[in-house]
Amino acid sequence: MGKRIKNICCIGAGYVGGPTMAVIAHKCPSLNVNVIDISEERIKSWNNKNTDEIPIYEPGLSELIKKCRGKNLFFSNDIKKHIAEADMIFISVNTPTKTKGIGAGKASDLKWVESSARQIAMYANGFTIVVEKSTLPVKTAEVIKSILQAAQQSNKNKKNSATFSVLSNPEFLAEGTAINDLINPDRVLIGGEDEDSIEALSQIYNNWVPKEKILKTNIWSSELAKLTSNAFLAQRISSINSISALCEATGADIREVSRAIGTDSRIGSKFLESGPGFGGSCFKKDILNLVYLSEYFGLPEVASFWNEVVKINTWHQHRIAELITKKLFGTLSSKKIAILGFSFKSNTNDTRESAAIQICKDLMDEGAFLCIHDPKVSKVQIAKDLNCEPINNNVESTAIKDQDYSGIWQSAIDIKMALKNADAAVILTEWEEYSQINWFKFANTMRSPSWVFDSRSIINPKNVVDAGLNFWRVGDGVT
Ligand code: UDX
Ligand code: ADP
Repeated sequence: MGKRIKNICCIGAGYVGGPTMAVIAHKCPSLNVNVIDISEERIKSWNNKNTDEIPIYEPGLSELIKKCRGKNLFFSNDIKKHIAEADMIFISVNTPTKTKGIGAGKASDLKWVESSARQIAMYANGFTIVVEKSTLPVKTAEVIKSILQAAQQSNKNKKNSATFSVLSNPEFLAEGTAINDLINPDRVLIGGEDEDSIEALSQIYNNWVPKEKILKTNIWSSELAKLTSNAFLAQRISSINSISALCEATGADIREVSRAIGTDSRIGSKFLESGPGFGGSCFKKDILNLVYLSEYFGLPEVASFWNEVVKINTWHQHRIAELITKKLFGTLSSKKIAILGFSFKSNTNDTRESAAIQICKDLMDEGAFLCIHDPKVSKVQIAKDLNCEPINNNVESTAIKDQDYSGIWQSAIDIKMALKNADAAVILTEWEEYSQINWFKFANTMRSPSWVFDSRSIINPKNVVDAGLNFWRVGDGVT
């Protein structure tokens, strides 16, 4: 029989913590769920009266927040109070790749996890279950445990001294479909040593997830399963993207190849869509973690196998930028390119590791003037990612011919503005609205000859070609 849990606290109100806690609060009305964060701005934004202005765009999330916030779901900066009250604490903080020191460029930076563990050690009361939820390198639970154990030792003689049990419960949600993934998971994975704590967490999920989908294992297997799962998914995308280049060279069509191989039940049809290269906060980071781990444990062949998955992804992004340049007669200076989509996939405002960042940088290096549109990503975020401020919106794109606007960008308020006087349109995110563009209507507003580059295969080629525009799409050697 697991410990009865009444108060849950989640450290980190981000893309994982926010949606996960919203679903737990929704499915478990008897639980009190507090999401805490060090960022005052983030918490303020989660508490925004207008639930359409919460910090994360995720279909279905705003409705859940409306329903649960203020009832059994709370967002707060009072870290001390909510850790002290909690029976169970989820750690859901950011773990980016280290930029300096040992393992730089590969290992995860655990400073936020470590500081969360220290906060827990300082403020927790009584027996507390600590659940690692962030994507973490294998053996992170060990780090958390040793910090908590040290606290336990020094607290021994104090009243209310805390004791801990650490579990690993990796998150498998994908952005854009997070709420559905959380409500209907393929599986929930819980790793740990203490049966009662595993049971306590399992009972929470069992409020809506059938028992047979709740897999229990040891902590290391749970951590490694998460990394491996992401590495396998990313590997499928690198595989299909590498074949798309071969399709273009040979006259095959990647969509036909995907369809044919996807019908093999051993392979399966999902995650075989060739695109501009995978992005998101997890894939690259998790593979680099695997590479680091393999090197650390003296397995250089394993490390180089997984490293290739990341290398080919970067190569593919450069390849797309290069071919755009080649099609536009080898030079982009004084040319306006409409970029349609900046998030790493549709239905999210997240741009972390988005293929659009590298592709836009490459095009700007070639001297292009970019007019960037995305339905959900802010101008401020794009400027941060490109490390470059945009020019004023009211500069007419015709002016780029007279002045040197090479290598700069502008934010488009709508598709019409992005396409006006453009030499090319490049679709980088598969937003529904881009698949609906009426190319007949816009063809005359673009410069001639102009191109449409579809890196997501969302456009019917006939609509573009019939409108008198040149067309390229990924992995299409047929047209
Ligand atoms: C991923 C995992 O799917 C999820 O289980 C894990 O918890 C976190 O990492 P996420 O990064 O949110 O989720 O999105 P995902 O749908 O996996 O897409 C990742 C990238 O791959 C995106 O850039 C997407 O556009 C790209 N992709 C995906 C393709 O290019 N082709 C495909 O067929 C599928
Ligand atoms: P993820 O995609 O993993 O959810 P995010 O970057 O979206 O990552 O969110 C992580 C959140 O964790 C951020 O809002 C950050 O401010 C918060 N955070 C990091 N360290 C701490 C900490 N020690 N205490 C509380 N919140 C933290």
